[in-house]
Amino acid sequence: MTATTQEQIKGILAGYCDPALGVEILPATALKQMTLEAGVLSLELCLGFPAQHYQDLLRQQLQQRFSAIPGVNQVDVKITWEVVSHAVQRGLKGLSQVKNIIAVAAGKGGVGKSTTAVNLALAIAAEGAKVGLLDADIYGPNQPHMLGVAQRRPESLDGQRLQPVECHGIQTMSIGYLVTEKAPMVWRGPMASGALQQLFQDTLWQDLDYLIVDMPPGTGDIQLTLAQKVPVSGAVIVTTPQDIALLDVKKAINMFNKVAIPTLGVVENMAAFHCEACGHVTEVFGEGGAQALAEEFHIGLLGRVPLHRAIREACDKGLPTMLSAPESEIGQRYKEIARRVLATLSLRARDYSSKFPNIVIK
Ligand SMILES: Nc1ncnc2c1ncn2[C@@H]1O[C@H](COP(=O)(O)OP(=O)(O)OP(=O)(O)O)[C@@H](O)[C@H]1O
Ligand SMILES: [Mg+2]
Repeated sequence: MTATTQEQIKGILAGYCDPALGVEILPATALKQMTLEAGVLSLELCLGFPAQHYQDLLRQQLQQRFSAIPGVNQVDVKITWEVVSHAVQRGLKGLSQVKNIIAVAAGKGGVGKSTTAVNLALAIAAEGAKVGLLDADIYGPNQPHMLGVAQRRPESLDGQRLQPVECHGIQTMSIGYLVTEKAPMVWRGPMASGALQQLFQDTLWQDLDYLIVDMPPGTGDIQLTLAQKVPVSGAVIVTTPQDIALLDVKKAINMFNKVAIPTLGVVENMAAFHCEACGHVTEVFGEGGAQALAEEFHIGLLGRVPLHRAIREACDKGLPTMLSAPESEIGQRYKEIARRVLATLSLRARDYSSKFPNIVIK
């Protein structure tokens, strides 16, 4: 292969910004192999995130671009991936059995954090990653219900640590598995934070690429515990386009900024109402809010999810959209959001702390 051709290939890769993602993914991509023989260009790319479904789209896009290089008649792009750990807050050590923790948060209640978190976890798993979902809502856990496994109980083999409840291809843990749905949960602040830490530490997560944490509303004790004690690689902020939500959400972003947890982007939930009867689309909470927010904080808009009855019904039935209708338009939205989250995280610095032993000076 001539030096010019090599330069052209590398130039295409370096400047490539996936139109569907709006994220430059190639800085985190390794070029494993590249040959040009008899007009056949073969490339092997190793992405920093799983791409079971996304790879076809990416391959098509790249093949189109490479075909334009003089002397290239055929293009074979092989795509593989490897998930690595990304940097966490300074002073905290990453976990050996969990590569990346992603918190799904909002300053406000009821904006769709849990709905987004569960669909995000399932969408990431569908791309070929090992995924866990931790319900950090100690006061009102609803992941067991949303996943249709409220009657399941986690097992403990050693009487101390809990096996996560495995369902729909993901590992899950929630305080909801440990208390009955009818018993009201009365926790004082420190107890609640302690319970979260325990759920997090005492669960035997098995080799997770990503652990998605569904955060409770607000910016109180639990949020602080997460920010200060749990090694988080990135946060996904959920908001409705409503102004108040945006004010609260700024608080949430600022809190993550303060402890140096990068915000991976914002999901605008309940973005527009789709009337099933007449097909009319109404911007119930106004429009453009999340876009403005993303610009103000220099973070990406991860996607917009409409206000749609099917989304609520799916969660109420215990079969979130990513299980009941993954190929629907809404399912596609969740898949795109998942890809943007993963691609954005893959560009963050790596973390090697879990590979080093603890050093104790006596
Ligand atoms: N895009 C949507 N369209 C329709 N209903 C939705 C949508 N997103 C969430 N919902 C519904 O809105 C309600 C609140 O959603 P969810 O429980 O996910 O919010 P939350 O932010 O986690 O709330 P909390 O602060 O109480 O934890 C649920 O009944 C859910 O099914
Ligand atoms: Mg919730």
